[in-house]
Amino acid sequence: MTKVIALAGKGGTGKTTTAALLTRYLLKKKLTPFLLVDADSNANLNELLELNVDLTLGTIRSELKGDLPPHITRDQFMEMKVHQALIEETGFDLLVMGQPDGPGCYCAANQHLAMTMDKLADNYRYIIVDNEAGMEHLSRMNLRSIDHLLITSDPSARGILTAKRISDITAPLKLEIKNQHLLVNRAPQPLPAALEAKINEAVTESGMALGGIIPSSDDLIHQELSGESYLKLADNAPVIQIVESIFDSIFAAD
Ligand SMILES: Nc1ncnc2c1ncn2[C@@H]1O[C@H](COP(=O)(O)OP(=O)(O)OP(=O)(O)O)[C@@H](O)[C@H]1O
Ligand SMILES: [Mg+2]
Repeated sequence: MTKVIALAGKGGTGKTTTAALLTRYLLKKKLTPFLLVDADSNANLNELLELNVDLTLGTIRSELKGDLPPHITRDQFMEMKVHQALIEETGFDLLVMGQPDGPGCYCAANQHLAMTMDKLADNYRYIIVDNEAGMEHLSRMNLRSIDHLLITSDPSARGILTAKRISDITAPLKLEIKNQHLLVNRAPQPLPAALEAKINEAVTESGMALGGIIPSSDDLIHQELSGESYLKLADNAPVIQIVESIFDSIFAAD
């Protein structure tokens, strides 16, 4: 069965960074093939992996509103285009959602898309969805359920509270979320005791488990500045070792 991993969290707390590090992890552990879905309208996961994007699902959806080539159904057209939009790498594919529907959404296009995505999903061991801040997105994605929701937070009291609020608002979503993990990112080392207390409090009072604490990392800062793929980060970089042990425990039961 395909497992779905989704990223959530306040803006700038490390969702895309975590998705890139997860890509590196799944490749290293040979947990392939997997599909990366960039559901941020300001897509940038591809940049962390040094991949170019030519076609997004947003573009396909708008093409579907116009005249199609003769002798092709809308479903066939959608399927063909989605395959064109897939960026195929060794071990994983990347699909970029692009701009969402504006006002006057063409809902039939979304239905065709949902069907195509459903068919596509079966080809993969994991689907990883990088989101923009906010949860509305997740409910719109036509996912049946999420196996692991990774909620990123900055290392502050208010940040942790926001992560807890995000966790709380998942309850009324029409979407089953099986496991929620809090990832406190860019944490100072050692972790201040007061922050640790806030984290423990948030975990106790919510549906989140503590996924792990990711330190602030010069290696990540340099990697982003250099524009090189995060897949090229060294195995012995401290942040990589920490993140690998975090992912080991999160995905141990999969
Ligand atoms: N552990 C870390 N150490 C140092 N820098 C980090 C760390 N995690 C993330 N960053 C940096 O923080 C910035 C924001 O990270 P990122 O883009 O992953 O956040 P995001 O949650 O995806 O943001 P958005 O909400 O805009 O999509 C980036 O410049 C990234 O390089
Ligand atoms: Mg992002």
